[in-house]
Amino acid sequence: LDSAGRRVFDLRIRAGQREFVSGRPSSTWGVDSDYLGPTLRARRGERVLVNVANGVDETTTLHWHGMHLPPEMDGGPYQPIEPGATWSPTWTIDQPAASLWYHPHPHGRTARHLYRGLAGMFLVDDNPVPGLPHRYGIDDVPLIVQDRRLDGGRLDPDEPMSGTTGFLGDHLLVNGILGPYLEVTTTRIRLRLLNGSNARVYDFAFADGRPFAQIASDGGLLSAPHGTRHVQLAPGERAEIVVALTPGERVVLRSASPATGAGLVQRDGGADRFDVLELRAAPTLTNSPELPDHLAALPPLPAHTAVRTRTFELAEHHINGRKMDPRRIDARVGKDTTEIWEVRSGDGTLHTFHVHDVQFQVLSVDDRKPPPELSGWKDTVLLPPGTRMRLIMRFADYADPHRPYMFHCHMLYHEDQGMMGQFLVL
Ligand code: C2O
Ligand code: CU
Ligand code: CU
Repeated sequence: LDSAGRRVFDLRIRAGQREFVSGRPSSTWGVDSDYLGPTLRARRGERVLVNVANGVDETTTLHWHGMHLPPEMDGGPYQPIEPGATWSPTWTIDQPAASLWYHPHPHGRTARHLYRGLAGMFLVDDNPVPGLPHRYGIDDVPLIVQDRRLDGGRLDPDEPMSGTTGFLGDHLLVNGILGPYLEVTTTRIRLRLLNGSNARVYDFAFADGRPFAQIASDGGLLSAPHGTRHVQLAPGERAEIVVALTPGERVVLRSASPATGAGLVQRDGGADRFDVLELRAAPTLTNSPELPDHLAALPPLPAHTAVRTRTFELAEHHINGRKMDPRRIDARVGKDTTEIWEVRSGDGTLHTFHVHDVQFQVLSVDDRKPPPELSGWKDTVLLPPGTRMRLIMRFADYADPHRPYMFHCHMLYHEDQGMMGQFLVL
């Protein structure tokens, strides 16, 4: 904490060398590290100050994905950090407990900068929920899942392109590690999954098909644990799960191609299966409490409170027929108003939709009530071909007539190609 009571993080973006395969160094980027960056953590109500020094030879940015903050602190394309410069955003954490993340967002170069290794988790804490595992690194573990191409064990720092959705790799890294395992010492473990990949959609499940509970989505806890056997995540999305283990057992968390639009993904090499993580339970385990029946209050944003509905069709690297143009504002929304954004993939391809600053609720998926995994706070959704989703969001607290926030497809190749727009809150 500094003298003003702010929680201060000093971060340095730098180049490095990482051996994903021993004896085969790759040129990578990281934040205070050769690859990826530290988990940042702050409490709701706390004021934070992050000093981000750019130690690489390209201009980049650092964006706080999922964070509710003023647009000048957002770290999008309008907050470039020149080589050698330091950018110091400060804001008050004002949202429920959640697993957020940070990554670069320079216009047209996000895919490459993320691919080289710039990303990390940003955990927001609130009053602990009794019964939820919460000891970081012991029974509460973040997993940053990324596919990468390793040619002869080496990563090409210039992200290669393939397929229509963008880059798909042939190896899986979890927290920057190839083929990881985790020793578990408790009867229940909480995994905070982040799809930090450029384009790949995962459908996570345990090899033995065991059930687990999803407890949180992008922007915080669900109202109650959702019992399931798999969880699908598109690039940018997060889910927290809790799984039970018995002493001495081993179980592998796997990923397969998603059920939605599977044929399309397969054409792009997205149908591959990967082992994500092996959980190795110790011979004796400490008892974890039962999961609570109730996790969080999730007051619904009712549709009738929306002042307007906007529609966004994503197709062929455009949103509503237009590419990102820094000189054009695509939407002006009123501060302290609620809107419905109706989003649709219109070109037979998988897309995603992400909005900065807000966490939204899914009102409907093709006019049906959203499934339990989409019932909580979200900032990114997967849009299978032809699917139409109605999202409701409230634009509160921050207005700025000059600095826009972004909305875009989080398939990073699409984003860099211009599948992005900007909105002002006035
Ligand atoms: Cu995860 Cu506009 O970003
Ligand atoms: Cu974002
Ligand atoms: Cu897209």
